Amino acid sequence: MTDQTISGGAPAGRGDEEPILLLTGGRPDLGGGALDDDALWSLYDVDDRATGVLRVNFVQSLDGSATVDGLSGGLGGPADKRVFDTLRSLADVVLVGAGTARDEGYGALRVSAERSARRVAAGLPAQPAMALVSGRLSLDPGSDLFAVAPRRPLVFTVEAAPADARARLSEVADVVDVGTDTVDPARIVAELTSRGHTQVLCEGGPSLFGDLVAADLVDEFCLTLSPLLEGGHGPRVITAPTETPAPPRGLELGHVLRSGSTLLTRWRRPAGTSRGGAGGGSTGGGTAGTDERSRG
Ligand SMILES: NC(=O)c1ccc[n+]([C@@H]2O[C@H](COP(=O)([O-])OP(=O)(O)OC[C@H]3O[C@@H](n4cnc5c(N)ncnc54)[C@H](OP(=O)(O)O)[C@@H]3O)[C@@H](O)[C@H]2O)c1
Repeated sequence: MTDQTISGGAPAGRGDEEPILLLTGGRPDLGGGALDDDALWSLYDVDDRATGVLRVNFVQSLDGSATVDGLSGGLGGPADKRVFDTLRSLADVVLVGAGTARDEGYGALRVSAERSARRVAAGLPAQPAMALVSGRLSLDPGSDLFAVAPRRPLVFTVEAAPADARARLSEVADVVDVGTDTVDPARIVAELTSRGHTQVLCEGGPSLFGDLVAADLVDEFCLTLSPLLEGGHGPRVITAPTETPAPPRGLELGHVLRSGSTLLTRWRRPAGTSRGGAGGGSTGGGTAGTDERSRG
């Protein structure tokens, strides 16, 4: 994806070439200096990988847009990309809605050799798994997303999905029904957990995020604030699945990073609370160089 032209805003405003600093977040050992990749890994790592965490990552403009000209690439800078890659590196599985995969032109999910080595050293598979959500199964089985994937992707769909598309995709992916006419997000989490994917990174998009919030399945929200006023044409980072409002969900601040004028925030489900959906909150047992989506 090409970068966007931003009138009136210097590239440095989005953190280009700027170090990433920890502003607040209860890690005095990491305060005061530029965070290297080891520090970022340590900051976003979890204490116990057996405890299920569904983490969602988005970038948005200061005026609340998830896109510039229909894509997220105009919002992210180098700092956002480093955190984006760090989150992928830590994930068991990256979960993405079909709309995002189509619009952002996702290719095969593959973290860099260096990040892959870090995963292996930590006892993880060399590459995270990839899971997509699509009711219509309108995904190209010949695309790089499937054709050169280092791990066979999962596709979560519904029983009502078109049979011909299901047959084609089943040749390159594990197609799993998690609903009759619409995807049940709690069943997605349960299916991932049953495959040992406890650390789930959802990269959007807004519709899938809306489904996950409505089902109260989101444990962490990582939001990059890009120092940019988009102007009001773009969508929010979330789309409600129904016209019936879900109750507001409170989150607690985990940390705030700064790179130039870009803020990279991490928010968490309040301590002592658990998922409200059927997926269960803290059950155990149960992401680049070639990327795909390039915010930066
Ligand atoms: N700023 C950011 O960080 C960020 C991140 C991600 C995406 N985006 C932007 O968001 C836009 C895409 O938005 P989006 O809402 O279309 O993305 P999305 O949530 O990735 O995709 C929506 C699609 O996912 C499938 N889906 C989601 N929930 C479903 C359910 N409950 N049942 C059945 N199918 C379900 C459907 O696929 P089928 O149509 O195949 O049935 C649906 O059309 C793009 O412009 C992208 O650039 C921004």
